[in-house]
Amino acid sequence: MARVRVPTGIEGLDELLQGGLLQGKSYLISGEPGTGKTTLAAQYILEGLRRGENGIYISIDEKPAHLVEDAEGLGWDLRTPVDEGKLTLLDVSPYFNSVKTGKSGSIDANEVIQDLAKQVRRINAKRMVVDPIAPLVAHRERLYDVQEYIRNLIFGIDDNLGCTTLFTSHVRPGTPGLSEYGIEEFMVSGVISLRLVKPEKKYVRSLFVRKMRGTATDLSEYAFEIVHGRGVVIRQPI
Ligand SMILES: Nc1ncnc2c1ncn2[C@@H]1O[C@H](COP(=O)(O)OP(=O)(O)O)[C@@H](O)[C@H]1O
Ligand SMILES: [Mg+2]
Repeated sequence: MARVRVPTGIEGLDELLQGGLLQGKSYLISGEPGTGKTTLAAQYILEGLRRGENGIYISIDEKPAHLVEDAEGLGWDLRTPVDEGKLTLLDVSPYFNSVKTGKSGSIDANEVIQDLAKQVRRINAKRMVVDPIAPLVAHRERLYDVQEYIRNLIFGIDDNLGCTTLFTSHVRPGTPGLSEYGIEEFMVSGVISLRLVKPEKKYVRSLFVRKMRGTATDLSEYAFEIVHGRGVVIRQPI
């Protein structure tokens, strides 16, 4: 049976992905600050809304109000779908801060998954964004335990939520990794890496589909632009 694809709505990307992401799976959008992760993620949610699929956007480093304002700057309206109950913008930083500093430092991934599942059921969401994933990772002393937690979190979200999920991950400027803990990329079904590159005098935004399970992708790195009203628009390979 052909697997259902979820179009991202990003011009040029769905063609590269043979129609889109695999329904119900989780993906990582990785990149340094300012590379376009939040723009791409917001666009993915808006495409869902356009298709009648409700969405949840979990904004961790940025206040949801800022997300709405930034989207407005791109010509996108996130306020109306929120008012209509089609989009939930969650600011979970207070929750996770209290978890981290409180006695319950050993929060397990299941608690997070159960909380998210409630939010998903409430509006029957089909698309979810966690921007970025790192703060969702509860503090652990040992790297092995952190990895175990991330594994449980991502697999639990895949198995229980019925959403197609984008996680964003920070890459520290100038470092070669794809994620904070160096394990997220192994757990997800696909990784899209965003960069700012300088082939000549000027920086260019680039997108590279690094990993995409079940999908034949070419290994070109594509230039892209962020365009008012259209968001991420893929251009030629660089
Ligand atoms: N209306 C716009 N037109 C073109 N580019 C924009 C517009 N609004 C924001 N940008 C660009 O998008 C970048 C922000 O991307 P963002 O998605 O927030 O990155 P990240 O989440 O990776 O930090 C900004 O640095 C800015 O250059
Ligand atoms: Mg961002």
